[in-house]
Amino acid sequence: MEKLVVKGPTPLKGEVIINGAKNAAVAILPATLLIDGCCTIENLPNISDIKISCEILEHLGAKITWNNKNSITIDSTNINSTKAPIDLTSRFRASYYILGAMLGRMGEIEVGMPGGCKLGARPIDQHIKGFELLGANVTVEKGTIYAKAKKLKGSPIYMDIVSVGATINVMLASVLANGTTIIDNAAKEPHIVDVANFLNTMGADIRGAGTDVIKINGVEKLHGNATYSVVPDQIEAGTFMLAAVATRGDITLKNCITKHLESITAKILEIGGNVQDNGDSIRVWCNKRPGKANIKTLPYPGFPTDLQPQMGVVLSLANGTSIITESIWDSRFQYTDELNKMGAHITAQGKNAFFEGVKRLSGAPVYSTDLRAGAALVVAGIAAEGTTEIYNLGYIDRGYEKIEEKFKKLGANIERVSE
Ligand code: EPZ
Repeated sequence: MEKLVVKGPTPLKGEVIINGAKNAAVAILPATLLIDGCCTIENLPNISDIKISCEILEHLGAKITWNNKNSITIDSTNINSTKAPIDLTSRFRASYYILGAMLGRMGEIEVGMPGGCKLGARPIDQHIKGFELLGANVTVEKGTIYAKAKKLKGSPIYMDIVSVGATINVMLASVLANGTTIIDNAAKEPHIVDVANFLNTMGADIRGAGTDVIKINGVEKLHGNATYSVVPDQIEAGTFMLAAVATRGDITLKNCITKHLESITAKILEIGGNVQDNGDSIRVWCNKRPGKANIKTLPYPGFPTDLQPQMGVVLSLANGTSIITESIWDSRFQYTDELNKMGAHITAQGKNAFFEGVKRLSGAPVYSTDLRAGAALVVAGIAAEGTTEIYNLGYIDRGYEKIEEKFKKLGANIERVSE
């Protein structure tokens, strides 16, 4: 078993390069199944979710060549299986994108139920509703989803809730459908726009991604033979921005889109941190104890739920009492028990958590309870006095490329140790 051993406190200082977005990449890879040919994807984060995505694509008949650790070429000419194995799909959430992509490509797919972080109930009713409106027959039996369609037909689809996954999945399924699909009440996250940009580069006709109405005019074929670079990761960038504040450091982030970071920037300024927007880089620094703030997680452009635990670390150390309201997931405060082991004073009750700020955290053995919780514990360890040991690294490695090396370059005393 591996653990991260962090000795703090260290004010983080220096430059960090942000990788491509996990949540865009895990949708773009299945989207390549829609192409009858080859394409190259660059700026892929080198993380375990991407490696499993590649294994699933290969299982379905795609040929993958690694050009370097962040770039692959995928040849989807000979897709020859319509079954995605449950031992792979159960390892992460985004395996559900195989459904939309394969319905579009083959009109048929059998996928094991998706896994992923345990954040409360994670239904996929809106995905299924969308596929059915496009004309597919979808059944769920014994942990497997079966979806089949003769030829998908474009349709108006109103999403009952704003869902990133359902928006992308319906987009994937409708790109090659007959006629026009209109997704109403669509999610607007940067990764939605990125998947639409990728598909359009390959010949799709998708308009309105990034607004709450997306129109997809079905096309006959996606041509491939193009190279696409994944958008920078808004959540990895936000993690480092909040790490700068929590450790009272000074970090410049390179390869990020500052427009995607506005909700985080606004909160950092509100609690007394400093942010300098340089266009394609952003500098964040803080030289005093942060002030309190209230946060409510919301779909983009609101404050992202995937930065809620990292913000929780900052507010644990703030001057005063803050409240975080988690409005997306039912169970995303499990990390607060771990932070309390480090001396934080947090009370979580249902959708709210109350952070009575303390002057310092102290190192302790702690367990990642999900991906972003794990990243938050690393930040807490760097800000805390003494030694923190972080376990359950599998979660962190699903979404952050070489997290300890990036923090080490910023001055953190952090090592990955095998026990
Ligand atoms: C995506 O999950 C992200 N994952 C999550 O990031 C992120 O927390 C979430 O969006 C919200 O931003 C990926 O992109 C792979 P949703 P997703 O469908 O698509 C409810 C991370 O740490 N819902 O937008 O699964 C659902 O229960 C991960 O990187 C339905 O009711 O989230 C939730 O309350 C964790 N029915 C809300 O909608 C559905 O059919 C939003 O979920 C679908 C969703």
